[in-house]
Amino acid sequence: MLKKLVLDGIDWVDARIPMTETWNKHLAQYPTPVNFNFWYFFGSLAMLVLVNQILTGIWLTMHYNPSAEGAFASIEYIMRDVPYGWLLRYMHSTGASAFFVVIYLHMFRGLIYGSYQKPRELIWIFGMLIFLVLMAEAFMGYLLPWGQMSFWGAQVIISLFGAIPIIGDDLTLWIRGDYVISGATLNRFFALHVVALPLALVALVFLHIVALHEVGSNNPDGVEIKQKKGTASEEAKGKFTFHKQYSGKKDIIDAVPFHPYFTVKDIMGVSGFLICFAAVIFFIPEGGGYFLEPPNFEAANGLKTPDHIAPVWYYTPYYAILRAIPDKLIGVVFFGGSIAILFLLPWLDRCKVKSIRYRSWKHKLNITQFIICFIVLGVLGALPATPLLTTVAQVASVGYFGFFIALWVYSKNEKTKPLPTRLTH
Ligand code: HEM
Repeated sequence: MLKKLVLDGIDWVDARIPMTETWNKHLAQYPTPVNFNFWYFFGSLAMLVLVNQILTGIWLTMHYNPSAEGAFASIEYIMRDVPYGWLLRYMHSTGASAFFVVIYLHMFRGLIYGSYQKPRELIWIFGMLIFLVLMAEAFMGYLLPWGQMSFWGAQVIISLFGAIPIIGDDLTLWIRGDYVISGATLNRFFALHVVALPLALVALVFLHIVALHEVGSNNPDGVEIKQKKGTASEEAKGKFTFHKQYSGKKDIIDAVPFHPYFTVKDIMGVSGFLICFAAVIFFIPEGGGYFLEPPNFEAANGLKTPDHIAPVWYYTPYYAILRAIPDKLIGVVFFGGSIAILFLLPWLDRCKVKSIRYRSWKHKLNITQFIICFIVLGVLGALPATPLLTTVAQVASVGYFGFFIALWVYSKNEKTKPLPTRLTH
């Protein structure tokens, strides 16, 4: 009786919107390459962290006071008096860092398996737009506690726009809404942080997945699975083996339905992630001063500059590039360029082979030096600048940009290994 009622209900909805069809096409029966490894956890983890940020953000907003007079005290109130307020806040602040850990690993996976290459250029472009919005979202969120680092960090970053010729001064004024960072700045950052940018993020994630499901997922071999289709009768003749029992129709040989194979696998990824996430929240919520910086436990004071102003760890590689260049305007150009150049990756890489597994030693070496430079820049961006460290940052910046130039040069006639005919395990 109950079952019939539920089935009738589903039919009723299906006759009006394609619920079951969408569910099957995009989740339950989405053809997934059989050789997905742990690098493929990070897409679903990014979604999990996004949901965590939105939910904890909504609850924080219920108690937060977006004014220069009340913001700092309202955070203290959340931490001390709101039931489980400390948990909400730590889930949100640790969540921001977790978001970037997950996204950097997700992007790295795309880099090594060539997932940005044709026909997935748009997936990458939407991904990069997500990355940009995410950086803006985290930057604006960081002003909200109205601590010393919130105030002075925003001061440093907003003043960068002042380096732009002609419009620079007017632009900084327009962004701040005042001659200095003030309650007006806090209010607009709050509006953008809680409404505009999360909406943009969710819309971009939707487009990211639509683009992905249009062309299908890449995989660690970088071989297009859609090119190898077969029928059950061909299988019976011993031409190949399906990874799953398929009906008579022509279907992808090297795919399995997303459910239950990858729902179960992703649950494993989620479990591992939650263990690490909970360990940080409960044992080192400030992340040793990297997730929540010590000066931010002091209320913003426009008359007292902290000894050392450093952005949160996920911005430090780009900040190190900015500081490595003595001229402010050229520094800002390279700072923006270090992110803008990532958008061009699908066109800078001209190799026909996607995965690092079958690419040349030059490519492996280039990716390795790029990652080393990125990490070195990340470390340097968090340290006070000295002449020696500035020189190191300059060398690492050359390595960072050199990656893209070298890739464009050698990828055209790259000597690659032969691709496998079926996906390998
Ligand atoms: C909120 C942020 C993001 C979410 C929720 C998200 C979600 C996903 C999901 C669920 C997948 C499919 C599963 C997987 O392949 O892991 C995926 C694939 C992909 N994402 Fe993202 N993503 C985000 C950000 C990014 C960013 C910043 C980039 C790069 C700039 C990116 C590039 C890609 C690429 C290239 C693929 C296809 C990978 C392949 O098929 O091998 N994503 N994303």
